[in-house]
Amino acid sequence: MTAWNGKRVVVAGGAGFIGRHLTRALLVAGARVVVVDNLSTGRDTGLAPLHQADIAVLDRLPIPAEVVFNLACPASPRAYQADPVQTWKTSVLGTLRLADLALAAGARIVQTSTSEVYGDPLVHPQAEDYPGNVALTGPRACYDEGKRAAEVLLYDMARIRGLDIRVARVFNTYGPGMAADDGRALPAFVAAALAGRPLRLEGGGQQTRSFCHVADMVRGLMALALSGAARGIPVNLGNPDERTIRDVAELILRLTGSRSPVVEVAPAVNDPRRRCPDITRAQTLLGWEPVVGLEEGLRSMIAAGHPADRDAAPAGTASVSS
Ligand SMILES: NC(=O)c1ccc[n+]([C@@H]2O[C@H](COP(=O)([O-])OP(=O)(O)OC[C@H]3O[C@@H](n4cnc5c(N)ncnc54)[C@H](O)[C@@H]3O)[C@@H](O)[C@H]2O)c1
Repeated sequence: MTAWNGKRVVVAGGAGFIGRHLTRALLVAGARVVVVDNLSTGRDTGLAPLHQADIAVLDRLPIPAEVVFNLACPASPRAYQADPVQTWKTSVLGTLRLADLALAAGARIVQTSTSEVYGDPLVHPQAEDYPGNVALTGPRACYDEGKRAAEVLLYDMARIRGLDIRVARVFNTYGPGMAADDGRALPAFVAAALAGRPLRLEGGGQQTRSFCHVADMVRGLMALALSGAARGIPVNLGNPDERTIRDVAELILRLTGSRSPVVEVAPAVNDPRRRCPDITRAQTLLGWEPVVGLEEGLRSMIAAGHPADRDAAPAGTASVSS
């Protein structure tokens, strides 16, 4: 018996990478889950009933939900830059639509925001009160600013209309089930290493990231959803183990026993140089912190295998941000 037993939960974006892991964990915990997803970057696994729809024009919640998780948004730069207007609509209009429906149903909404709200940060590590160093005009703005606008909308709806909100600022998350061809660095590196192809480091790979295993992320999202103390405020969820991208590429080569070369390619536009969460708030309010180390997590990803032949990323397109 868990606190989720019998809870009616909608997972928007539940067919995506984190959403599938979250859906599985919620079902194991006894929740009744329905997924809402337009399958633009996700795939139906049949784990839970799927209501196929775009959240920006969703006419109703498929069940009278008590909790609505919003993970619906393409997270890889390749996917969210493919149609920036659709990304913005998903982030802003989609969050507004879900928030309106959650309010009408008396449901709590749990938003997956992102570390991208901190932009290319000038303070390190990033705590929740850091306002960010962001670029409005670049190719990443549809995602970064869309997520920022969605947060603003939720804080205002909580303040003015009493909407019950939780906001997770999700830092880079990885693990089994990421599509090798979605353009994110870790699955691209693993697939390339397994196939004996070059690992391409944008801008030389000296930029840092902190990678959180998806099992830890799901535990954090579920704890946040049930937390009274975290109501209405952003909470960083991520792993503070900061590494350069080059170090991660070399670790993957070692773990796979691959002899793939590492090559340097042009840096991505507006790619943040450093990224590391301050997770004091999550530790204090949720009693949460990540427990899966990078080496152990990468082993789980490598063991799960990757459709390496699908990873045909051209030079410079594998990105280190989400
Ligand atoms: N993975 C990360 O490292 C990371 C980091 C920061 C934030 N996040 C956030 O976490 C969430 C999940 O990320 P992910 O890695 O699982 O991404 P993903 O792309 O694998 O999954 C997103 C899911 O949302 C669905 N979707 C997209 N637009 C939609 C729309 N308009 N209507 C309905 N469904 C839609 C997609 O089909 C997909 O199933 C996203 O909101 C993302 O911004 C992820």
